[in-house]
Amino acid sequence: MLLGQIPTGSIQLIVTSPPYALHFKKEYGNVEKREYVDWFKPFAREIFRVLSPEGSFVLNIGGSYNPGSPTRSLYHFKLLIMLCEEIGFHLAQECFWYNPAKLPSPAEWVTVRRIRIKDSIEYVWWLAKSPFPKADNRRVLTEYSADMKRLIERGYRAKDRPSGHKITHKFQKNLGGAIPTNVIERGNNESNSGYIKRCADAGQKPHPARFPAALPEFFINFLSDSGNIVLDPFAGSNTTGAIAESLDRRWLAFENEARYVENSRLRFEGFLA
Ligand SMILES: C[S@@+](CC[C@H](N)C(=O)[O-])C[C@H]1O[C@@H](n2cnc3c(N)ncnc32)[C@H](O)[C@@H]1O
Repeated sequence: MLLGQIPTGSIQLIVTSPPYALHFKKEYGNVEKREYVDWFKPFAREIFRVLSPEGSFVLNIGGSYNPGSPTRSLYHFKLLIMLCEEIGFHLAQECFWYNPAKLPSPAEWVTVRRIRIKDSIEYVWWLAKSPFPKADNRRVLTEYSADMKRLIERGYRAKDRPSGHKITHKFQKNLGGAIPTNVIERGNNESNSGYIKRCADAGQKPHPARFPAALPEFFINFLSDSGNIVLDPFAGSNTTGAIAESLDRRWLAFENEARYVENSRLRFEGFLA
């Protein structure tokens, strides 16, 4: 395992999406649900070791149905419990990737028998080596809503909300943007991205399970500084490395399949000359 060659405590941020325990396997192979936690454990130990004391581990993982049954597997929750209770990670926050364009699946339950609804989120466990990892939400502010902009302009009468929250005058101060929620909304087709266009031009198939650039971009800005090292140990097309580079971070990426490593060069225009 390449992780074994990385010095202890040298990595500020790990953003990754390992193969999920899917019922219908992807072309690069997926681990069985019942084996998943044991399969991931050696990676988890190394990930914990290589992270700096203020480092974060951001793990994107999809849920899955139990084979032949309209019930959900608990494998990703078991994984989270193992990471916290056996490896020693702290759960800094559970975040979600909301993909409104996700296809309805499994067809049997959702579109044929119509007894389940469309699944549109994936889990993004934000884990850390300590309860206080490096983080600054001022670096990921979003645009204020129209209501909030109006409020800042016109002012707000301090009052207690029915919920018990006290809304003070500080509320109307313009702090440069809204604090983002723990739901990151983005499709994963990114059909206009440079990577997809370059794959088409080169006659190559894009990686079949990319996450959207917005995902690593958000966490790299939020949880690391310029010059820090960002690692993706299941890199696929190396979305993480390309975004890290564009944000002036150093990066490392590991991938099992040589064809994906070769194809990931298309994310870096400079290599194409
Ligand atoms: C879900 S994909 C990651 C996609 C990536 N986030 C992207 O945006 O392109 C998971 C990747 O992990 C790779 N993989 C599976 N087992 C691995 C291992 N033991 N070490 C490194 N990579 C592995 C697979 O080949 C696959 O490309």
